[in-house]
Amino acid sequence: MAQKLWEKDFEINSEIERFTVGRDREMDLYLAPYDVLGSMAHITMLESIGLLGKDELPVLLKELQNIYEQTQRGEFVIEDGIEDVHSQVELMLTRKLGDMGKKIHSGRSRNDQVLVDLKLFTRHQLQLVAEAVKDLFDQLIAKSNQYKNVLMPGYTHLQVAMPSSFGLWFGAYAESLADDMLFLQAAYKMTNRNPLGSAAGYGSSFPLNRQMTTDLLGFDSMDYNVVYAQMGRGKMERNVGFAIATIAGTMAKLAFDACMFNCQNFGFVKLPKECTTGSSIMPHKKNPDVFELIRSKSNKLQSLPQQITLMMNNLPVGYFRDLQIIKEVFLPAFDELLDCLRMTAYIINRIEVNDHILDDPRYDPMFSVEEVNRLAAEGMPFRDAYKKVGLDIEAGKFTPCKDIHHTHEGSIGNLMNDKIAALMQQTLDGFGFERVEKAEAKLLGK
Ligand code: ARG
Repeated sequence: MAQKLWEKDFEINSEIERFTVGRDREMDLYLAPYDVLGSMAHITMLESIGLLGKDELPVLLKELQNIYEQTQRGEFVIEDGIEDVHSQVELMLTRKLGDMGKKIHSGRSRNDQVLVDLKLFTRHQLQLVAEAVKDLFDQLIAKSNQYKNVLMPGYTHLQVAMPSSFGLWFGAYAESLADDMLFLQAAYKMTNRNPLGSAAGYGSSFPLNRQMTTDLLGFDSMDYNVVYAQMGRGKMERNVGFAIATIAGTMAKLAFDACMFNCQNFGFVKLPKECTTGSSIMPHKKNPDVFELIRSKSNKLQSLPQQITLMMNNLPVGYFRDLQIIKEVFLPAFDELLDCLRMTAYIINRIEVNDHILDDPRYDPMFSVEEVNRLAAEGMPFRDAYKKVGLDIEAGKFTPCKDIHHTHEGSIGNLMNDKIAALMQQTLDGFGFERVEKAEAKLLGK
């Protein structure tokens, strides 16, 4: 069996090995390209402080680049008996380059290595999430503008309340995403700080140049305090989890609305039949399973910060193996979130709106406040107008005027979607994706 990086003078118990590795090899595959990037920055820095030869650096960089390409082609594997991605990369280097490969770990621990891997992975995923959120946002704004003038009932207590519109309904979820994007940006900024050089959590006696690896990897700054850098493990995941949860919360609510409004008793929206699913027994069925699955997956995603909190909140300062298990809930969460975001955008783009809802007199009472306001504007005291309209409705004598004029900010006649879009764009511009992409490309020699 292959040796562990830390194996010395005794045989490792195979049951202990099975249990301590667990699902870690599978999880570490998510991190492989980022492990390589982190190593490229680390060895470039090691050469600059004399811990690697001038002639050795390009050889090692070239081999790391090969390994990176393997990760991109899906050919990178963590072999049986190899503990994790960090061990696998080092093994590949030493197999190919001998002693030179063994030099790369100076001034580093797997503790700061996995930290930097997680930061680089998460940073990349957050960019994909931001882009997918923006795509969904654009679909919602487009639908909001398209159906600006189509009225629908607004509800309180699930009782018909006041006139609303599809413009408002779609636009509300767009603005919700604009707020979620602020959370995402805060999570991104916390993520985009360099933990490398903190080693096992207490730094190193080598004169490591942490600013250099910070710049090479395109981080905004470093996690300055080495103890804090290690304490950030789990904290970053939890806070990113909160950002994921707030986006998922927006989608879950939208999905619930869509399921409800799609039900025959409402009939406000409809999915094209090829986007519905059927029943094995009831031949008439056209079910909105897609929204139900978005709702359930999004609700599950909202438990992410709680799950992470429970795994880390009773740990004192310093590294613990507990942290490894966070990867099992955190790393796959991005695929699920991205799938939901893309599917929501896909289905919102195809959703059909009923523009004849108000032909049904059961919704007439939603114009009651309009009538009260009209009477009040004509001079009748508001309370008297309220009473008159209430009694008219009870007596079945209410004929609504459906010609409504709401003009104040953010209401039916004045959606302010341009302001919402500006808010979203302003947040997006603040991430700084371009600088990060350039740094990574440069490190990879592209
Ligand atoms: N698989 C480990 C993790 O995810 C990597 C770090 C191992 N460090 C250690 N001291 N055992 O946390």
